[in-house]
Amino acid sequence: METNDDFASIQARHFMQCWGRQKDYQPIPVEKTEGCWIHTTDKRKIFDLRSAHECINLGFNHPQVIDAIRSQLDTVIYVTDDFATEPTAALSQRLATLTPGSPNKRVYFCNSGAAAVEAAVKAARMYKYCETFKSPKITLDAAAQYPYPYKIISRYKSWHGTTSGASSVSGDPRRWFQEPFTVPGVVFGPEANAFRSPFDDSPNPVQANLDYLDYIIENEGGNSKVAAMLIEPIVGSNGIIPPPKDYLLGLRTLCDRWGILLIADETMTGMGRTGEVLAIDHYGIEPDIIIMGKAIGAYCPLAATIFSEKISACFDDNLFGHGQSHSGHALACAAGLASLDVLQAPDFLPEVRKQASYLEQQLRNLAANHSAVGDTRGLGLFWTMELVTDHESKKPLRRTTEKYEKTIVSDLASYLLEKKNVYVPSDKFGIWVVPPLIVTREEIDFFVNGIDEALTHFGL
Ligand SMILES: Cc1ncc(COP(=O)(O)O)c(C=O)c1O
Repeated sequence: METNDDFASIQARHFMQCWGRQKDYQPIPVEKTEGCWIHTTDKRKIFDLRSAHECINLGFNHPQVIDAIRSQLDTVIYVTDDFATEPTAALSQRLATLTPGSPNKRVYFCNSGAAAVEAAVKAARMYKYCETFKSPKITLDAAAQYPYPYKIISRYKSWHGTTSGASSVSGDPRRWFQEPFTVPGVVFGPEANAFRSPFDDSPNPVQANLDYLDYIIENEGGNSKVAAMLIEPIVGSNGIIPPPKDYLLGLRTLCDRWGILLIADETMTGMGRTGEVLAIDHYGIEPDIIIMGKAIGAYCPLAATIFSEKISACFDDNLFGHGQSHSGHALACAAGLASLDVLQAPDFLPEVRKQASYLEQQLRNLAANHSAVGDTRGLGLFWTMELVTDHESKKPLRRTTEKYEKTIVSDLASYLLEKKNVYVPSDKFGIWVVPPLIVTREEIDFFVNGIDEALTHFGL
């Protein structure tokens, strides 16, 4: 019979680790978490430079959020949406108001980013059905056919979640695990990456990219076949790629010209990550649908699909043919509201931006001393250093097809964890620098020194 101390080995035996080979699974036993740090049972203190999959933007155990969760526990935790609860109502209204455009929006709540993406894609298609056939209304068998715009244009460098629909609209190599059973009706275009643009030869790569998307839309049947374009405003998992200036505005114009919807997936980039509540706040665009997840529920699983007034109105008379249990979970909404209170307090985001500019400067100094750093890019507290074999060729140290192979990038992650007490993901294309938003200057110095030593150790 195992004692409590053996919980890590029990977990190693019975828990299915995400995206891992189970025989290699060796979870580190945790005693407690605090701020940006994970304290292990053997008294190590590890800096979480990935913010727990970007879910704990406010750091671990933020007292204001914990208080809100505690007090909500004593009243209502969850009732179905035939009933109303104060935090669910307040969070829907708050999200409808803080996102760009008319506040007459509706918010669908679910438990994961993938589920929020599913709702966005399905609603975009149902909206296009309604727009095409003013009447009859959506009926039970309407979804059986697609005599209306249904295609979704996504981008190769994108990740929208692991369910079959969400992975089908993802360009990321994790989609390959779903093939050949991906959901039809998805077309991929290029992302906008100033470092590696397929349009480098053009005098205006942003315009060339937009022109190519225009070509794709035209050849996929224009607005009689294409329902929506789905983007991460800043590419996340596939390399933290802020788009060049004017790209997102150009994309919005392109979608409007064709009459297709624009869906912005802010699952990773939302909740202050980039120094604004949403990444789109930097670019001045108004999407038709916005997806939020991860940090929105603070310590509770929560995600939201926020529909503009135009889309919401479509479902006044038409059936919203989508749903799930736990939608609008009062406890999770109370946690979400408390995190927005923290995030939108007058001094919070200005302080994030201050630390962000210090971080950027430290990373650029570091990059100057390491020849393998091909590109240092990011926004707010959302940064990466992409690693290359040499600057001239920009050949990556890890190719897309090597995501789950052991390469020097995964060795670097292990070294940082074991020798420097800095936890970064091991499956990226460089070093992931995504600290909790409450990070201090001393903590930035701590992990930047760790990265410096790790790169030196591997001769990079
Ligand atoms: C942009 C984006 N969308 C959706 C998802 C899926 O979220 P979840 O893992 O909560 O389903 C992710 C997860 O990394 C993401 O980065």
